[in-house]
Amino acid sequence: MKISQKIFLSFLLLIVGVLLSACGNQQAKEDVLSAAEIETAKEVYVLAGCGACHQLDSANTIGGVGPQLNDIGLVAGTRQEGVTAETYLREAILQPNAFVAPDCPGGPCSSPSYMPATISDKLNEENLNLLVRYLLTMKAQPQIDQ
Ligand code: HEC
Repeated sequence: MKISQKIFLSFLLLIVGVLLSACGNQQAKEDVLSAAEIETAKEVYVLAGCGACHQLDSANTIGGVGPQLNDIGLVAGTRQEGVTAETYLREAILQPNAFVAPDCPGGPCSSPSYMPATISDKLNEENLNLLVRYLLTMKAQPQIDQ
């Protein structure tokens, strides 16, 4: 191989490396939803009926049956040891009884959960993914009286 070819190859590898590491960083960054995605996510949340039971200021819902979700992006990752926030949120929506949250507005949450196990029937894969990403961005400071 000629020297010039070697130089060219190393240069190519360098670029690939830089690109790969840039992608890696991208994934580590916090997920940011576009304005359009946020609007769609709110619609999905409201149409699925989540707001009937959950307070979520971002979507203007005041339901008082389940826990408020204004800080769920912070709380979700602390609910079950070794379970990431994203996995917890999926589980909370797909199988409400797999883990019952501790505190509901009226006191301890009932077990079995009042949250319908069939709620996810109203969500297709795309809507579920968007809803989970949307909820992950809810990071209001926890309220003192909760
Ligand atoms: C009929 C009332 C009801 C509806 C409708 C409902 N939920 Fe719930 N939800 C609850 C209750 C009660 C709990 C607490 C018990 C439990 O963990 O299942 C809960 C728990 C949760 C949790 C876990 C909260 C925490 O602090 O750990 C999430 C996340 C959640 N719901 C999201 C949703 C979403 C998204 C929808 C709509 C697709 C929805 N819920 C619809 C009543 C409801």
